[in-house]
Amino acid sequence: MPVAAPVLRPAQTGGGSSVPVHVAIIMDGNGRWAAARGLPRVAGHRAGAEAVTRTLRAAARRGVGYLTLYAFSSENWRRTPEEVTDLTSLLRYYLRHKVAELHRENVRIRFIGDLERFGRDLVDELRRAEHLTAANTGLTLQLALSYGGRGELALAARRLAEAVARGDLCADQIDEEALSGCLLTAGVPDPDVIVRTSGEHRLSNFLLWQGAYAELVFTDVLWPDFDEAQFEVVLRIYAGRERRFGARPGG
Ligand code: FPP
Repeated sequence: MPVAAPVLRPAQTGGGSSVPVHVAIIMDGNGRWAAARGLPRVAGHRAGAEAVTRTLRAAARRGVGYLTLYAFSSENWRRTPEEVTDLTSLLRYYLRHKVAELHRENVRIRFIGDLERFGRDLVDELRRAEHLTAANTGLTLQLALSYGGRGELALAARRLAEAVARGDLCADQIDEEALSGCLLTAGVPDPDVIVRTSGEHRLSNFLLWQGAYAELVFTDVLWPDFDEAQFEVVLRIYAGRERRFGARPGG
């Protein structure tokens, strides 16, 4: 029954003085970082993986509950076969070398996206990492892989239609909560803030439903240069925002 998962809303932070519960990041600019140094694109992705580790530590230290990183979009399959191979190899390397360490640090790992496209071997590794860390109580790292928000919404619609066809659900029971419960992120609070690096000002199919009330923060910093100091800047910007969730000022 796909509609039962609880919908957790982002912390209602009022004046926005607290640390966000859920930070989501569109990690962009690896290629430009490499090009500026006369390096191949894969060097930018490797440096980007180091920025992932730094950001994860910074988020955990500041008490962020959930960190979602857009590591591979459903559109990234259109890159050259060489770059797709570089990115999947890097992901495999990261899993093999970092999962045990993340587990020791009490990090829970989840993956969202059309994971089957990566092939059985990698999917098995992803599932093992999720299984190993499932009971951890620290920060949840949610990696979006072969992920696209529109595809996720189409999947949720399909799941709801199937539940109706089975007789488990009436069409008039389909509401926001039912749809949220059919998303890949079911059970995870919506992001409080979505960050995009590298000066681009787009969501690029990232968390389209879940980001409805997220604060958007754009920075010119290229992802491989992102570090603890940059993360602190994001937290400061977030703390300075007034979140009203559609309500009137002071309401
Ligand atoms: C965007 O930069 C970045 C990606 C498409 C991949 C993100 C991957 C990583 C940060 C490293 C691997 C991650 C993990 C978790 C091991 P771009 O290539 O589009 O940069 P550009 O816009 O400057 O060309």
